[in-house]
Parts: sequence; structure tokens; C-alpha cells
Amino acid sequence: MGVKLGILGLGTVGTGTVQLLQDSTGRHPLLQEIEIYRVGVRSLDKPRAVELSTEVLTTDLESIVNDPAVDIVVEVMGGLEPARSLILKALSNGKHVVTANKAAIARFGAEIFTAANQAGVYVMLEAAVGGGIPVIQPLKQSLSVNRIHTVTGIVNGTTNYILTRMQTEGSNFNDVLADAQRLGYAEADPTADVDGLDAADKIAILASLGFGGRINLQDVYTEGIRQVSKTDIAYAEKLGFVIKLLAIAKRDTPSSPLSVRVHPTLVPQAHPLASINGVYNAILVEGEPIGQVMFFGPGAGAGATASAVTSDILNLVAVLKTNTAVANPLLTCRHQEYCQIAP
Ligand code: NAP
Ligand code: HSE
Repeated sequence: MGVKLGILGLGTVGTGTVQLLQDSTGRHPLLQEIEIYRVGVRSLDKPRAVELSTEVLTTDLESIVNDPAVDIVVEVMGGLEPARSLILKALSNGKHVVTANKAAIARFGAEIFTAANQAGVYVMLEAAVGGGIPVIQPLKQSLSVNRIHTVTGIVNGTTNYILTRMQTEGSNFNDVLADAQRLGYAEADPTADVDGLDAADKIAILASLGFGGRINLQDVYTEGIRQVSKTDIAYAEKLGFVIKLLAIAKRDTPSSPLSVRVHPTLVPQAHPLASINGVYNAILVEGEPIGQVMFFGPGAGAGATASAVTSDILNLVAVLKTNTAVANPLLTCRHQEYCQIAP
């Protein structure tokens, strides 16, 4: 029997995910096991870039999370509510959840993972940070034995795209922001990108995973790029720097307090993060004994994000198909609110 997906949202990420699922040839064999069963949207009248039968599309998102036939709920609608309530309802109904929603996870992660643990199901969030870059699972799993000192990232594609074009083309902030929106990089409300709030959500999640504690967003110093002018960028360049919106989580010694912040930063031109341009993101993790590890890739956009969402779906399909936790990379996670026992 196929694994039935209930997808909440058919915008940039939802459409990219459906396209990837519908074009399975030459990809992962488990894609054949997946059925796009229901897709929830706000409006049935909007033109869509993917073909779905009328029985699949619905505006009744509650009916998706309550449908006993749905195995996995894929939340790609964004926002805080009703996304939070729908995720919680899906979990309490025994469904695994994949989400790209960093805003919801950064605020309600503890509640969501507690609900998942109680229900014995998984929540997967690879797409929530870094778009297509695999960084959540490596932080949870492959790097979990390390004592992490610093996580430094360019974690917002929209602002990196804006800063890059201001630097290389002398473009105007507002024109480039409009391009980022057209390309599907920006949040529904781009204030979240421009004012550093999206980056704050992402570094809070990375810090929770890397350092093993809950990060209160109020404790994350957050400054966006509105004040950065073309003159600032030109002077920085003359002095041998580029301006990047960095998200930083840092603990100098195992007993010192964790500092988490987001702000425009003068980055020396020779630094590995200085050459990350356009919509690309990079996350530099420094720990002991590993030293430095950098994750790099497209940080936003339909295809890249769909890659991360679909990898999470495939992990869950593997769990469902084998009825074991073979794909369970969560057991080694060090932050218990983000860790889960096998279902
Ligand atoms: P989007 O283009 O604005 O799409 C949102 C979709 O959700 C739309 O299909 C919309 O329906 C539906 N929706 C929203 N609120 C709804 C409601 N209350 N009831 C029913 N349907 C609703 O957003 P997106 O860019 O795909 O982003 C989705 C999520 O992925 C967000 O959490 C975002 O932060 C995250 N994310 C985005 C990217 C990216 O590159 N865009 C990358 C990583 C993560 P209609 O189509 O009918 O309006
Ligand atoms: N708006 C986000 C960004 C999408 O520009 O990085 C990816 O999370």
C-alpha cells in the first residue's frame, strides 16, 4: 500500500515538492510508494503550476490532519497559526510531520516535539534552515559527539541576495527585494527576512541542536539590513571587507553563557563566508575535536527547498515501510526537546 501525504500549502515550497514527487524517474525508488492524497490551500481559484485532481485540492486543512488515511502531513503553508494547531492535531492523530516552518519550530518547538514524543511519531525539519542544505541532520547526528564552540551562518537567502546585488551591481534595495519576492525566496511578509527575524528563528534552531538548550527568541539580539547603504558596502570593500548578515551562536568555554545574535557584520574578504553570494547560504560549525565544518548551498527557492522536504518525506516513508526506526537519525540528537524515541 502507498504512503499517503497530506500537504498543507501549495505555494513556492509546496509546488516545488509536488513537482519533485510527480517527476520520480531516475530519483529515489521509494518515491514510487508515495501518493499525493490531499493538498490544502487557501484559494481553489488560483492558477497552479502543477496538475492535481479536484478531489486532491481542498481548503479544509483540518480535514487533512484528521483524515485517518493520511500517513504523513507536510506543513509548507508557513506562519504561526493555524500552522501550529494543524501540526499538533496531526501529531495527536498519530501522523508523522515534515515542516519547513522555522518560525513555528523556533517558537513552539518544545510543544511540538513533546506532542510528537507522546504520540510516538516523528517531526522532520530539514528545510527549516538553509533551504536545500543538509544541516539539521548532520548537526543532530554526525556532529553530535563534538563540543560545539560556534555556529556562524549566512542563513537568509533573501538578504544575502539583496546585499550581493547591492555590492556587485549597485542595485537599489527595494528593486532587489522585489526580485527576491518574484523568485520565491522571500517570506510571505518579507519583513521577516529584511529585519533579521527569519535568521533569528534559524539560528535559534541551530543553536538548540548544536548546544543542547532551548533558545528563547527574546534573548537573540536581532538586527536586519535596512540600515545598510550602498556607501557602507563600498567603504567596506575599500577596507578589505564585505558586509554579510551573520547569525551567530557562540559559547567560549563549556561553562560560559551562550551568545546568540543576528546582525550585519564586516567579514574579511578572505573569510570562507565572504564569498557566499546571492541566494546561497553557508553554515560554519566549529567544534572540538572536529575543527571547522562548513555547509554550503542554495538557501531558498522552490527546487532547493523541495529537495530538503522530500528527503524528510523519504526518511519517513522508509520508517513506515520497514516499521522500524532504520532511518532514525534523531536518537543521537543532544537536545532532548528535539530528540525522539523510536515510534
Ligand atoms: P507561500 O508561497 O506563501 O505558500 C503558502 C501556501 O500555503 C499557499 O499555497 C497558501 O495557499 C497556503 N496557505 C497559507 N496559509 C493558509 C491558510 N491559512 N489556509 C490554507 N492555505 C494556506 O510560502 P512558501 O514560500 O512556500 O513557504 C512555505 C513555508 O516554507 C514557510 O514556513 C517558509 O518559511 C518555509 N520556507 C520557504 C522557503 C522558500 O524558499 N520559499 C525555503 C525554506 C522554508 P494559496 O496558494 O491558496 O494562497
Ligand atoms: N525567506 C527565506 C530566505 C526562505 O530568504 O532565506 C528560506 O528559509
